[in-house]
Amino acid sequence: MAELHLGQVLSFTASPFEAGPGAVRHEAEGAVLVEDGRFAALGTAQALRAAHPGARVVDHGGGLIVPGFVDAHAHYPQTAMIASWGKRLIDWLNAYTFPEEMRFADPAHAAEVAGRYLDLLLAHGTTSVCSFCTIHPASVEALFEAAEARGMRVFAGKTCMDRDTAPEGLRDTAQAAYDDSRALLARWHGRGRAEYVITPRFSPTSTPGQLEALGALWAENPGCLMQTHLSEQTDEIAWVKSLYPEARDYLDTYEAHGLLGAGGLYGHAIHLEPRERARLREVGAGLVHCPTSNTFIGSGLFDMEGLSREGQIIGLATDTGGGSSFSMLRTMAAAYEIGQLRHRALHASELLWLATQGSARALRAEDRIGNIAPGLEADFTVLDLASTPAIAQRVAQADDIWEALFPTIMMGDDRAVSGTWVAGRRAGAA
Ligand code: GUN
Ligand code: ZN
Repeated sequence: MAELHLGQVLSFTASPFEAGPGAVRHEAEGAVLVEDGRFAALGTAQALRAAHPGARVVDHGGGLIVPGFVDAHAHYPQTAMIASWGKRLIDWLNAYTFPEEMRFADPAHAAEVAGRYLDLLLAHGTTSVCSFCTIHPASVEALFEAAEARGMRVFAGKTCMDRDTAPEGLRDTAQAAYDDSRALLARWHGRGRAEYVITPRFSPTSTPGQLEALGALWAENPGCLMQTHLSEQTDEIAWVKSLYPEARDYLDTYEAHGLLGAGGLYGHAIHLEPRERARLREVGAGLVHCPTSNTFIGSGLFDMEGLSREGQIIGLATDTGGGSSFSMLRTMAAAYEIGQLRHRALHASELLWLATQGSARALRAEDRIGNIAPGLEADFTVLDLASTPAIAQRVAQADDIWEALFPTIMMGDDRAVSGTWVAGRRAGAA
């Protein structure tokens, strides 16, 4: 049966980076009609009530209905070691990340963490994620099964590592990476809402042979996304140079092995050379900004202004557990703070766009998720714009929707999420 959700509604008609805040449509007394898991109509409460008298009404009062958040880069196996103290990237990987990922050799452990992780995302208003798994194929099965049970559109892949820079127990081979990834892709890609993503962790933990094999798999499956990491920390870049002395730059280690293209997702992308920027833009690759991770691990300040102005495709992400939060609200706040440090104050409309349609566009899924528009999958989140006393007293002074939303972006957490709907169904509802 059709459901009519009443509340304030925000949706996009264009990118605010290109068209300013006018790219966002705000209905103060709005309504969204949901039918068969998709948005069927969007308008004023008055008009949609009159047009659809038979629909079941769900009244969110002054709640703000926004597209479900899309987290474009995360590591679900790092859920239980988020907020681990005191290290930078390479030491952080060795001290905390790799030991934690070893635990995923046990499929029961993978299943338990996958369910816990997706429930945390839903509680924070996130309806889609693009996640790394571990080298264990069962870690991929676990996440896709948990996503299927919740109806979520999830993008994920087996993390491939075959160099001795990764520890014993977390290594595959070039051939096993190809074979396992290919089998998982065949089994899951396009099953329900699952999308398989070819996933070399990053150049330092793969041999050229493994990068080549995964490049071949991508060429055989050009409709798939490919995700990896690029130029996160300066020590990492020096390490890549020492392991790949013939490469022109970090990106060239991917480019030379068939791992640069549209549908390629490059996490972090902070310390980029001019040639790398030009090539990423030329091919229409996706750059994924992970601001809480970049401050937490001490990586650097993403150049949002320069990269967006030159027309790069940019998504936003938590990078759990290098990132220090599951919340895309907190992630937007961190993006704002990094923007300030680079003298570019991101507008609330830009932050919200990055966390929804921007990420969906980077994932090449903007025709399905990331906005509220007829025909799109009905993934949405209802925000309480006065969820804590501290936010409420600030919002009491707000003159427009952006002033009313920005305190929740800067100070909000899962308490600001009144509810999350996935393909039209309320998450957590029986
Ligand atoms: N680079 C390679 N692997 C990782 C990871 O798990 N997290 C982060 N932040 N960077 C990486
Ligand atoms: Zn990452």
